[in-house]
Amino acid sequence: MRPFRKEAAFCLPVRKWRGPVAQRSDIVVIGGGIIGLAVARKLCLAGCAVTVLEQHRTGRGASWAAAGMLAPHCEFDEPDPYFILCRTGLERYAGFIETLKEETGCPIDYNATGMIYPALSDRRQAKLETRYERHRREGVPVERLTVREARRLEPDLSNQVRMALRYPDDHQVENRDVVTALAKSVRLHGGKVREGVTVRSIVLDGPRVTGVDTTDGLWNAPKVVIAMGCRSRYLDGVSPAHQVPVRPVRGQILALRTGAVPPFRHTIFTHEVYLVPRSDGRLIVGATIEEAGFRDEVTLGGVLQLFRGALGLAPGLASCPLESTWSGLRPVARDGWPVLGATGTPGLFAASGHGRNGILLAPLTGDLIAEAILNDRVPAIMQPFLPDRFYPIEPEEAN
Ligand code: GLY
Repeated sequence: MRPFRKEAAFCLPVRKWRGPVAQRSDIVVIGGGIIGLAVARKLCLAGCAVTVLEQHRTGRGASWAAAGMLAPHCEFDEPDPYFILCRTGLERYAGFIETLKEETGCPIDYNATGMIYPALSDRRQAKLETRYERHRREGVPVERLTVREARRLEPDLSNQVRMALRYPDDHQVENRDVVTALAKSVRLHGGKVREGVTVRSIVLDGPRVTGVDTTDGLWNAPKVVIAMGCRSRYLDGVSPAHQVPVRPVRGQILALRTGAVPPFRHTIFTHEVYLVPRSDGRLIVGATIEEAGFRDEVTLGGVLQLFRGALGLAPGLASCPLESTWSGLRPVARDGWPVLGATGTPGLFAASGHGRNGILLAPLTGDLIAEAILNDRVPAIMQPFLPDRFYPIEPEEAN
């Protein structure tokens, strides 16, 4: 049968409506990185109409650049509220990944082997011995390994290693798998994810946010979440007093091709360099910590630092082909802690400043921000991270 064809006379030209009619959502999330997507997913699950507006491609900023370590026990020296936040984030992670895999059918490479933190000098050994005693007192799962035990677990570790700590509960995940699955999950739950849309400014009615003005028109929404990573500070329309005071901190990373099976089962962590084995045979070597503004280049000095660090931990890596190098800009607040919750502008929320822990904290951030938006509640764990800690002290308070 010949396909039905309309007579030309009845074919009206289809024109995209470019009038003043605004689009509408219950909530607009600005930024389609792992944090914005995790927040959006949680709000979609609660039945909200959510739109994520991403300037470039979802998850291709710091979320893509990260190494995916979920490592509060290695990363933190003090049991402060930031550590508690990260440890809570870790407790929820494996369950979150399982759910996300079921929802989306996306593969997510998750490694729960644990992390090894080796000492290569007397000074570091003394620090790790103190850390070991403290963590044991605090009930943190940690094992002290002799050189022989460490090298039995990871034979490619340098013979310069003096001793090591093993943290069985610190994990790592392929962060790129997570953002891909999250974007799919948001869409599956009815959320909109718009790429290539730049938010020009927030729109206010008096003190209250009522939407955003974008390169794709106006979006009305009574609630707006700033999840713009290291650019979170630069959103027009936000009162200077209520800006999210984060800056970019560059991390350069490289990947080695180590063969079908990576030489390590554990992630090898030090504060200078870390080696993260992926199941596809890559070994991620990260990361520098640099104040370079918004310059996201890879530099000779940065790569050299990573090479030196990696070869110090495992000299055998010298024969591995270098597969790729890249860099990302971590969002870091003035005090180094995340910025979570209601800003001083009614309806405007912040979910930013996660620094080295954005991948780890994404699911928990989704839960906390949803709680703040939907129930107007500040869970106790979120209290130290509220944006108002940066707000100027009123003159009368200062006296
Ligand atoms: N999460 C480790 C880093 O940001 O380098």
